[in-house]
Amino acid sequence: MISVRNLSKTYSATSSSAAFRAVDQVSFDVADGEFFTLVGPSGCGKTTTLRCIAGLEKPDAGSITLGSTVVLSDRLYVSADRRDVGMVFQSYAVWPHMTVYDNAAFPLTVGRTKLRPPEVKERVMRTLALVGLEGVAERKPTQLSGGQQQRLSLARALVHQPKCLLFDEPLSNLDAKLRERMRAELRSIQRALGFTALYVTHDQIEALSLSDGIAVMHQGRIIQQGSPREIYFSPANRRIAEFIGASNLVSGTIIAGDTGTDDVAVRTGLGDLRCSGTGHRAAAGEEVFVSLRPEDVRFTDAFTSEVNTFMATVETVTFGGASTELHVRAGESGVPMRLQVSSRRIVAEGDTVMLGIRCQDCRILPADMDAAWPPPRIEES
Ligand SMILES: Nc1ncnc2c1ncn2[C@@H]1O[C@H](COP(=O)(O)OP(=O)(O)O)[C@@H](O)[C@H]1O
Ligand SMILES: [Mg+2]
Repeated sequence: MISVRNLSKTYSATSSSAAFRAVDQVSFDVADGEFFTLVGPSGCGKTTTLRCIAGLEKPDAGSITLGSTVVLSDRLYVSADRRDVGMVFQSYAVWPHMTVYDNAAFPLTVGRTKLRPPEVKERVMRTLALVGLEGVAERKPTQLSGGQQQRLSLARALVHQPKCLLFDEPLSNLDAKLRERMRAELRSIQRALGFTALYVTHDQIEALSLSDGIAVMHQGRIIQQGSPREIYFSPANRRIAEFIGASNLVSGTIIAGDTGTDDVAVRTGLGDLRCSGTGHRAAAGEEVFVSLRPEDVRFTDAFTSEVNTFMATVETVTFGGASTELHVRAGESGVPMRLQVSSRRIVAEGDTVMLGIRCQDCRILPADMDAAWPPPRIEES
C-alpha cells in the first residue's frame, strides 16, 4: 500500500524565479494491487509528487508510507535506494551501448540486492519474456522500436520485483496505436504480477482506461478523487467536467429551490432543463452551469421523453467512423454545442434538428470554475 499524507514541496527561489509550491497538501491512498492514477495538466505537480514518493525529491512536509514502512515523516527520511519502489519514465532511460539483456540485468548487479549470476539470468529472462522481449535479448536498444524500448524500461523496473511501481507518463512518446496496445499490456502485466501501481499522466483517456482509482490534480492540489466512473459521470466542478472528457457547459439560473431530492429546473439558453438534483440545496435564482456530455445529447426521434428537448442548427459535421461529431447552435439563443452521434444517421450542415437529453444526464455545477457541491471532503491528517 502507498499512503501519502499532506505532502508539500516548494522549489526554492533562484535568481530568475520566485519560490514555487509545486505540491500542496496532497493526500491519497493506494491499496495493495491497485492501479491508481494522478491526472492533470502539465505543470500541476504530478512528477514532483512521484519523485517525492521515490525519494528523488525532498518534500517540505508530509508523510509517506510504502507497505508497512514509513519512508517519510517529521522525523524520518529514507533515501531512494532504501525504498522498495521501481520507476518507469517517459524517456526510456536505457543505455544504448548495452544489450537488452544487460540493460535489464543491470539493476540486479549493483547495490544492495546483488544476486548470483544464475539467479540473475533466470530472473532477467523471465522478466524479458513477460514484456515480450525474450527474442531480442542480444540486441542493442538502438535496434529496437519505440514500443520495445519502453518495454525494456518496464522490464528494468520489474526485474527487482518491487511491490510498488511508479510510472511517469511512460506511454507519451509512443504513437497512438502503440500507446493503446501498451496500455492494455501494462494493465494485464500489472494484474498478473499484482504489484501496486501509481501512474501519472496528463492524458484523461489513459487515466480512465487504466485505473481503479483516479486523483485529479490542479496547481499542486488534488481536486477530486474517485473511480473512473465517478470522475467521469460526477465531476465535482466545471474544471474537472472540462478536463475529463468533453462537456457542454451551459449557463443557467435555478428556477425553483432544490429540495435536495427531486430534479431541479434550470432556465438556460436551451430553454428550461430538468436536471438531476445537486444533492445540495441550491436556491432559486442561483446562477449555475449545466454540464451535458456530447454523447448524451440525442436526436429526439430516437427518444421517448418529452422533457429537455430543443431545436438546433447543424453548423459542422465531422465524420469519424465509429461516431460523428457535430457542432450545432441550439435553443433560441443559439448556444454553441458539440455532440457525438451515431455515424449511421446522415446529417448535413445547415439542417435543423430536434435534440433531447435525459434529466439524469444533466449535471448542475456551481458557476465558479473551482467550487464544488457537495463541499469537498476534508482529508483527515
Ligand atoms: N527543479 C525544479 N525547480 C523549480 N521548479 C520546478 C522544478 N521542477 C518542477 N518545477 C515546477 O513545479 C511545477 C510542477 O512540476 P511537475 O511536477 O514537473 O509537473 P507535472 O509533472 O504535473 O507536469 C511546474 O510549475 C514546474 O515548473
Ligand atoms: Mg511530469
